[in-house]
Amino acid sequence: MEKEIKRIGVLTSGGDAPGMNAAVRAVVRAALSRGIDCVGIRRGWNGLITSDFVRMDTSSVSHIINKGGTVLYTARSEEFRHVAGQDKALATCKLLGLDAIVAIGGDGTFRGALALSRRAAETGYQLQVAGVPATIDNDIGCSHYTIGFDTACNTAVECIDRLRDTMQSHERCSVVEVMGRHAGYLALYVGISVGATAVLIPERELDFERDVIEKIRRARLAGTTHYMVVVAEGAGNTMEISRQIHEEIGLDPRVTVLGHIQRGGAPSARDRETASRMGFKAVEAIAQNAGNCVIATQEGRLVVMDMEKALAMTKAFSMDRYDILEALTNNSGIH
Ligand code: F6P
Repeated sequence: MEKEIKRIGVLTSGGDAPGMNAAVRAVVRAALSRGIDCVGIRRGWNGLITSDFVRMDTSSVSHIINKGGTVLYTARSEEFRHVAGQDKALATCKLLGLDAIVAIGGDGTFRGALALSRRAAETGYQLQVAGVPATIDNDIGCSHYTIGFDTACNTAVECIDRLRDTMQSHERCSVVEVMGRHAGYLALYVGISVGATAVLIPERELDFERDVIEKIRRARLAGTTHYMVVVAEGAGNTMEISRQIHEEIGLDPRVTVLGHIQRGGAPSARDRETASRMGFKAVEAIAQNAGNCVIATQEGRLVVMDMEKALAMTKAFSMDRYDILEALTNNSGIH
């Protein structure tokens, strides 16, 4: 039987991403506009476990659309991975009378949401969950785009442009690490955007001679005297890569780890707009009793996907971009 949705919870979980606040704002305002009460859960799933919540009204989300980070705080909850933690979280849901939860985050966040909803069903409590994809890694299987990716790319590009000025002046090699423990989307996108000499990503097995040394050689033969090697966090150790470059071809690279700089900052227009639409759509899906779902982008459109199916999807890493990068660097024409 369909349940009338009276009150929903909203939380952000996992690594923060620029645009999360815009998504929270959209969820709160979309809910209120339908006469649905909204409660903010703080510190991710931990907040449900410890009953750490805040009542949300329209002014609680004023002036946050332009802010990075998340006003609800975030966490990666170890306790919530276990049934005992989920039961504590469920007790909070029952106490507050939550009919649904909008979880803003990545794959891990959605897995947690589904586990909670299933646990609720086992105890006879109906709890609908909707996921809104937000991670700078852009690595959620069901969605072509995740909130935060665009801003993180722009931040990394701006930093690397600055590095380039000094590398060019000193005719140096730069080895720069961007985030992405398991995914190379950020590295590749950024690498294309800065015209990197080489990009190393976890999805492609590293052949140091082919992927680094030969690329630098070709760039040199084409007339270049400074080089930019972009490394995704999960693709190799930047200090080791720098040492190896020095050992094999005598350059003296400088290493820069961009790190968490990439996660902060004001969200781009793309991230604000996407987050606003996704948050709105999540509330619409809940109000229509769509069941457990993820709001995903497919071919540029927003779609409501069954959460279980969404979690089973993997994103095929398209090597097209890698080929484009290779073709466009000025080392490509030398044989
Ligand atoms: O949110 C994703 C991500 O930024 C990854 O790119 C990175 O590997 C990881 O989070 C870093 O996590 P933490 O903030 O726990 O250091």
